[in-house]
Amino acid sequence: MNVLLIGDVVGRPGRQVLHRMLRRLIAERGIDFVIANAENAAGGSGLTPQMLGKLHAYGVDVVTMGDHVLRRRELIPVLDSSDRIVRPANLLPTVPGNGYTVVAAPNGVPVAVLSALGRTYMKAAEDPFGAVERCLTRIGEDARVIFLDMHAEATSDKLAMGYYLDGRVSGMVGTHTHVQTADERILPGGTAYITDLGMTGPHHSILGRRIDRVVEALSTGIPQLFEVAKEGLRINGVIVQVDPATGRATGIERINLPAEEAAGTESIEPDENEENDHPGKPQDSGEI
Ligand SMILES: [Fe+2]
Ligand SMILES: [Fe+2]
Repeated sequence: MNVLLIGDVVGRPGRQVLHRMLRRLIAERGIDFVIANAENAAGGSGLTPQMLGKLHAYGVDVVTMGDHVLRRRELIPVLDSSDRIVRPANLLPTVPGNGYTVVAAPNGVPVAVLSALGRTYMKAAEDPFGAVERCLTRIGEDARVIFLDMHAEATSDKLAMGYYLDGRVSGMVGTHTHVQTADERILPGGTAYITDLGMTGPHHSILGRRIDRVVEALSTGIPQLFEVAKEGLRINGVIVQVDPATGRATGIERINLPAEEAAGTESIEPDENEENDHPGKPQDSGEI
């Protein structure tokens, strides 16, 4: 079966890319299951329940989150009630939601999706290796097709987790840096791996935010409002081929596609007050 994993969806432009492209990509590439990181989908930071519903409508089966999981408080009840969204497993146990889920793909194959945060330059509460290990124990025989979204800043955090899990999960994909890496591979034990899926959203930007604002903030030290950029829409991710009988990956292909201009007239309704979660309030430099 073919599993599509999509890198961080940023703001309305990122959601628009999925609205325009995902159904066609699913049909053309024979995709059986879609996992997308949506921690930046609401105005560049966090996710709302309404947007989660839209992402599902566009074709996303399970959403993973990251360090911005709690930026929108309205998401908190959904983290507990939905089995189609996961938050990092190594947050404090008091944080709502689950670090993994097992859901049936439309073809009937159970798919487990896990999420963990790296520790280098991140605010992980616990050790990600132990947290992932506990999730895998609970999953047990419930799923052979298993994917981990390792949301981490450091390449070493992701590579170490990939090799730690090699042969025990179908794929480990990195997210968070918003820059796609060219190191996709199948590890010796049969785990598909990429250090970072990249970003689904405006690539004429700095990590999805307006170039002028980020340059100004970082070059002067004066905080700016990091608005979501608008141009250079692309979808980033990988397609992993998995043998559902064994859970082993047999192929991994990187996806880095521009949004078709032909579909450019199609537009999604903006959600009220979504683009900047704190209009007028500068963000801390670097907090993207
Ligand atoms: Fe992100
Ligand atoms: Fe992140």
